[in-house]
Amino acid sequence: MPDMLITKSPNNTATAKLMSVTEPTEDEFNLFRKLVQKELGFEWGDDKKYLLYSRVQRRLQKNKLQTFQNYYDFIEREENKSERQYLYNAVTTTKSEFYREKKHFDFLRQNIFPELKKQASSRQHKLRFWSAGCSTGEEPYTLAFESHDFFGASFISNGGLRILGSDVNTDVLESAIQGCYADKFLSPIPDSFRRRYFTSEFEKPNSHIQIKTEIQRLIQFRQFNLMSAEYPIETKFQLIFCRNVLYYLQPERREFLIRKLVDHLEEGGWLVLGITESGYSIDKMEKHSISIYQKT
Ligand SMILES: C[S@@+](CC[C@H](N)C(=O)[O-])C[C@H]1O[C@@H](n2cnc3c(N)ncnc32)[C@H](O)[C@@H]1O
Repeated sequence: MPDMLITKSPNNTATAKLMSVTEPTEDEFNLFRKLVQKELGFEWGDDKKYLLYSRVQRRLQKNKLQTFQNYYDFIEREENKSERQYLYNAVTTTKSEFYREKKHFDFLRQNIFPELKKQASSRQHKLRFWSAGCSTGEEPYTLAFESHDFFGASFISNGGLRILGSDVNTDVLESAIQGCYADKFLSPIPDSFRRRYFTSEFEKPNSHIQIKTEIQRLIQFRQFNLMSAEYPIETKFQLIFCRNVLYYLQPERREFLIRKLVDHLEEGGWLVLGITESGYSIDKMEKHSISIYQKT
């Protein structure tokens, strides 16, 4: 089956028309609903049918498939397993921004960082932070700016601070690794940090600015699924940000994820969830402020 139809427009020039994809039927939608629930833990209401169609139809065109049933059968085949990554990239919601939910960063400075600084100097402790579901990197980079400013370059360099940024979506991780952002997205960043932590030159014609390597070096980006039974990390963290990830999950998967995150925290470590993800009472955790918890 051709993926493109070459047609003649009225003025006789050849134009490429993408193969048309049929909208998913209820049954087809349910197949994908179950799949993303099993693989990513997502809870999809009926309203997500259009999301499936609009975000995934390009993959069907690319693979020369006309219906969602064809696509489902395609990704089920062992030899096409790698196509699943494209599906995950298409269906994840990845909105993020620098200093999103700024109250959390104020709480960090006022309450968490001073405590970590005391512990770190008395026990020669290395700081280990994790941004789980880091999307395009704004969250771990904001953590890095704040940490660099608060703890100072000499304290955090040479392994004194390491930040892990993880996500299941490989597209967002690619851009996070680049650390290059359009000027228009930098407005939440204090001016002094913009001058300190970004290069002064636009890197690309469309006003993109590069984060300095001194900051980039603090962060390691890794791809893995938070729904996996085992995570490829051995570190225990003093601070985990997992914001605006739980929101999309089925209740049991949320509990699963929260348990895993708590297991990866040191005693006394902090867990920061998204502001709309408050209202949980979590075992072994004391609630401090808006969706901020400390391991007891
Ligand atoms: C809405 S963004 C939030 C980004 C950032 N934490 C923030 O609050 O600005 C959610 C991110 O979680 C990631 N995500 C969703 N489910 C995931 C899973 N099962 N494993 C790993 N990452 C996941 C998505 O790919 C997306 O980049």
